[in-house]
Amino acid sequence: MKVGILTSGGDAPGINATIRGVGKTAINNYGMQIIGIQNGFSGLLYKDIVELTDQSLSGILNMGGTILGTAREKVFRKMITSPDEKDREQIKNAYNELGLDCLVCIGGNGTQRTTWMLSELGLNAVGIPKTIDNDVYGTDVTFGFDTAVNIATDAIDRLHSTASSHRRVMVIELMGHHAGWITLHAGMAGGADIILLPELGYNMKVVIDKINQRMEMGKAYSIVAVAEGVEVPTKERPATYFAREIESQTGYETRETVLGYIQRGGSPSPYDRNLGTLLGGHAAELIHEGKFGRMVAKIGSEITAVPLSDVAGKLRLVTPDNQLVLQGKRMGISFGIW
Ligand code: F6P
Repeated sequence: MKVGILTSGGDAPGINATIRGVGKTAINNYGMQIIGIQNGFSGLLYKDIVELTDQSLSGILNMGGTILGTAREKVFRKMITSPDEKDREQIKNAYNELGLDCLVCIGGNGTQRTTWMLSELGLNAVGIPKTIDNDVYGTDVTFGFDTAVNIATDAIDRLHSTASSHRRVMVIELMGHHAGWITLHAGMAGGADIILLPELGYNMKVVIDKINQRMEMGKAYSIVAVAEGVEVPTKERPATYFAREIESQTGYETRETVLGYIQRGGSPSPYDRNLGTLLGGHAAELIHEGKFGRMVAKIGSEITAVPLSDVAGKLRLVTPDNQLVLQGKRMGISFGIW
């Protein structure tokens, strides 16, 4: 069998461990041939490929980024979401001309949707969920998330001492466009006093009251963790908006930090390496068994697979009954709505 692997969307620590997991299992356990398709779905159309061997897959386990390159796929997504006959033919021809028996697509929600559409076109496809945001529907966790939470928690830890020394309010903005998973987990692990998530919204009066109340209680400083996807009424970044409002409404000196792409770069945590390895290995197993049209997933402690048709177009979001949210509330941490 000949299997193609591609990576699409924003990168996440653990992609290379996953490519290695698919490739080494497919080659060594099932005797398959593996090719890497470079720079996402456009690499499929342009047949931008590289042969992957056991040897070329060595030494990449602890590397950040993706050895295959990745891209946000506007053109291909348009082709696949509303394909005309020409688009359908072009995609199918590319797959057939490469002699593929299956295509493995590693990516976030958009990629899973595209993978489902490819399988609707009649191509054999398997999805592997990937994003630091942890918002892929159908799996409890995505690789990249653990690494990002570690980096974000370390950043919040570091803000405590400088905030305390200057008696300041510190606002830190973390990644998470639709979902506040990184902000929730790093905010709780880093001891933030106010945690603002896109899913829960906020009331500025609640935020201001919380900061005033803490200062009146004699607390020297406050830490606010805000997800980048929290909507604000100006064109500013959430960190800038909240820092400005907090300083002007409380009179306390306030500073902002936007952690940005640091959360996505560098070496994956051991957890993400092993998660990618397990998901990759399971993808190879599915291909061997001819089970296509599925996305591999971790549900509870089980590595399993779900139909792509069940996950396409959906997001996994934080809900108000999340146990970390409830526990934070019980401890007096504000989520901007209480
Ligand atoms: O991959 C998810 C993510 O990290 C989001 O949190 C963020 O909004 C987005 O990627 C930004 O990525 P890019 O600038 O690469 O499109």
